[in-house]
Parts: sequence; structure tokens; C-alpha cells
Amino acid sequence: DIKGFTFDLDGVITDTAKFHEQAWHDLATELGVEWSDTLGNQLKGIGRMDSLSMILAAGGKQNQFSDDEKKMFAHKKNTHYVALIQSLTPDDILPGITAFLGEIRAGGFLASIASASKNAPQILKKLEITNYFVGIVDPSTVSHGKPDPEIFVRAGELLNLQPKQIIGIEDASAGVQAIKAAGQTALGVGAATQSAKPHLWVRDTADISLKTIAMKLSSD
Ligand code: G6P
Ligand code: MG
Repeated sequence: DIKGFTFDLDGVITDTAKFHEQAWHDLATELGVEWSDTLGNQLKGIGRMDSLSMILAAGGKQNQFSDDEKKMFAHKKNTHYVALIQSLTPDDILPGITAFLGEIRAGGFLASIASASKNAPQILKKLEITNYFVGIVDPSTVSHGKPDPEIFVRAGELLNLQPKQIIGIEDASAGVQAIKAAGQTALGVGAATQSAKPHLWVRDTADISLKTIAMKLSSD
């Protein structure tokens, strides 16, 4: 039986994915790397330095910069991103998520956060939902990013549950792969997750509820 949920943050709980995309897009343009929606989707769920590497590789510039320069680029992107998220309020929680967190609490389920973002604690605070989660995996202590299962394994450990008792929720293809590799049940949200074949799928966060999940599980 399902007893807990591991949540991705950006693009699942709040639409910060668009701010990451905006900040990376601007940096890419500055570095002379042409942006595409495909590149934008590939970056979803990918950590800061890996995202930068993928952008440089997309422009054939992977060997043009020193490590110090790369750190500076990543820092610049983060400064821009942090400025963009300052305006977040509880109104920026995606449709259906506040109600779903309420159901989780009322039903005695547990939830934790599996986000690669070092800004996750700050975002949860701004959204005023920190206390719905028993814990947040600190991504600076994770050695392999999504699609490696590590961060979801760790988020599952925070719940003190077995993988089979957990549903992981993701808007990124790399994230769905990570959940599946962790042995948890993957709930994919949105078109970008379809290629990774999640166990359960919804078009939109508004479609996430205990009831729809139970229905989808039983028709599996
Ligand atoms: C999440 C987002 C990615 C982001 C990563 C690192 O996984 O989906 O777009 O690159 O976190 O976030 P950070 O805020 O630490 O740069
Ligand atoms: Mg995401």
C-alpha cells in the first residue's frame, strides 16, 4: 500500500521551472548558444553545473571555458534566478497542489522533497508549505543527479518507508527515470514526462488527488 510521496519541486509544486528556463535562456544567449525548446526540456530536473555543461555542449563550447569561468556563469544564472523567485507567494502554488497536500496530511500519508535545487528550502518557505514535508534532501550531499535514483532513494529514506510504499511525482523525464530506478511508483506530470513512461500520468497538477491516483493505480 502507498504510504508516502516524494515530490520534485520545480514544475510540480510551483512553476519555478519557467524561471530556471528564463535565467538559463538569457545566459545561453549571452554565451552565443542558440536556445531551443528541446534544450529547455532536457534541462528540467538537471542540477546547476550539469545544466551549464549541457548548454555549452549544445553550442559546441564545452572546451572553451575554464572551471572558474563556468563557476562564474553558474553563479550569474543563480543570481538572476534568485531575483526572479523573490516575488513568489502562496498564490504561486500550482493548481491542485495545496488541496493534495491537505489530503496527504489528513490521510496520514508522509511527504518529502527530492529537488536538485539548492533554493528549494527558500521556495517552500515563500510558498508557506514547509511544514507539509517531513524533510528535504540537501542536494549538496547528493553525488549523482537525476536520472540517477540517488535523490529519490534519499527522499524515501526520509519517509522511513519502502520504495513500494512510495509514489514519486515529477514533471521531468530525467526525474521519472530516477523515480523508477529508485523502485518507487512514478507519477509523471505533463507532456515532457511521457517519453520516460511513468507508471501513472496526468496532464496537469490540477489532476493530482488521492482519488485520481487510486483510480489510476487500480486500472494499472
Ligand atoms: C531543479 C530544477 C533545475 C535546476 C536544479 C538546480 O532540478 O528542475 O532546473 O537546474 O533544480 O537548481 P538550483 O536552484 O540549485 O540551481
Ligand atoms: Mg521539476
